[in-house]
Amino acid sequence: MSTTPPVDIKRGLEGVIFTDTNLSAIDGEAGKLAYCGFDIHDLAAHANYEETSFLLWYQRLPATSELQMLSNWLRANRRLPKTVWGIMHSLPDQATPMEALRTVASTLSMFDRACIHAEEGGSSLCRSVSLTAKLPTIVASFDRLRRNRPPVEPRPDLGHAANFLFMLDGKEPDEVSANALEIYFVLLADHGMNASTFSARVTASTLADVYSAVVSALGTLKGPLHGGASQKAMEQLLEIESLDPKGDFRKNVDAWFEKQVAAESRIFGFGHRVYKVEDPRATILRQLAHDVAEKTGNTHWYDMAVRLEERVLAHPYFQERRIFANVDFYTAPLLHALDLPLDLFIPLFAIARIAGWTAHILEQQHNNRLIRPRAYYAGIRDRTWECIEDREPMVDAQPDIHCIAGQPANCPAALRLPAVVE
Ligand code: CMC
Repeated sequence: MSTTPPVDIKRGLEGVIFTDTNLSAIDGEAGKLAYCGFDIHDLAAHANYEETSFLLWYQRLPATSELQMLSNWLRANRRLPKTVWGIMHSLPDQATPMEALRTVASTLSMFDRACIHAEEGGSSLCRSVSLTAKLPTIVASFDRLRRNRPPVEPRPDLGHAANFLFMLDGKEPDEVSANALEIYFVLLADHGMNASTFSARVTASTLADVYSAVVSALGTLKGPLHGGASQKAMEQLLEIESLDPKGDFRKNVDAWFEKQVAAESRIFGFGHRVYKVEDPRATILRQLAHDVAEKTGNTHWYDMAVRLEERVLAHPYFQERRIFANVDFYTAPLLHALDLPLDLFIPLFAIARIAGWTAHILEQQHNNRLIRPRAYYAGIRDRTWECIEDREPMVDAQPDIHCIAGQPANCPAALRLPAVVE
């Protein structure tokens, strides 16, 4: 039986402000995003990922010599410790790149050497630089290993995105592709108190190390309501195509869209907790997806995405709820046009967001207080203890359950979970 709690519960912490930050500002009504005061459109036009990382870590733009210094540090840190390769080789065949990234990023803490600037509070920053440099190497190398190809050494003369594409394919990428991915990295580098950044800050607030905080963030990013939405958005386009691969793509989109609306299913890549107008990153990504698709001579997936967006925007259900394309929607045709495998989409989000996560970890460490919210207890109170012999079993075997723990009868899911409190 559910009762109305006597307190105002902010489900999903909506609207709750738990800290101040100097890193990024989102105006959800105006559709604006700025890092440390610089509008995302200016950053996309002028900054590369290394300069953006400098901005987030030091909260100011670098002078030429400073950017050179950070660039050198990042590029010198791209290689993985030797022993990590053994771990990479021992991952099971069915491991996904995101699982590999989460696992290998976690092992890096065990190879960490004390940072020479530790006494100045520099060690977390050094670890942030190291992780930012190494995440692309982990993802590209894992992808090559699973294709039975040898990993490719990072190239210090290449920028962040160009080097990633080089490590993936073993050949230098064309300028349009490298630029597009570099801008994608800049656009996704930080975004206020999103779920994964919050996770990182919660972990950092216990005074756990940077690696632990980043691993928390990686786990949180993976879900389809957050970073996993870009992969889902591409899967939607593939599902639409499969309806009638030789038919008119507009008809396929329309049929799929009507079915989703009728089933009241979510459309991935749309909607946002903060933006109630178009996400400014989506504006830039739409153009990038178009430009890269045009370069490849195949705008099919881009055109399909545009058609789906048109249908969403024209529908009263989405208009009433002020639902627009978010960052993940046009990421899908963009990364697909860059010929990147579907299951690299979430790791690529992580490669971009690591600068923001670590900047938030540093900010949390700088002015820390344990993050420890409360929950309203809605369960039964004052129960009387019953001896185990007096209790009735409630086992209810469900034969269609596929369980990693064994047969349905042995399965933990055979015991009914308590009804969810409304
Ligand atoms: N498709 C259909 N309906 C939607 C969608 C959607 N994509 N998004 C929200 N709604 C509806 C939802 O059903 C609800 O309707 P009602 O009021 O009738 O119950 C209403 O809009 C409010 O939804 P909510 O889930 O309470 O809103 P939220 O602020 O908790 O959710 C969201 C934000 C991003 C989880 C949600 O919009 C969503 O699930 N979108 C699809 C997944 C997605 O694209 N995620 C990426 C988010 S942005 C970038 C990132 O973080 O990675």
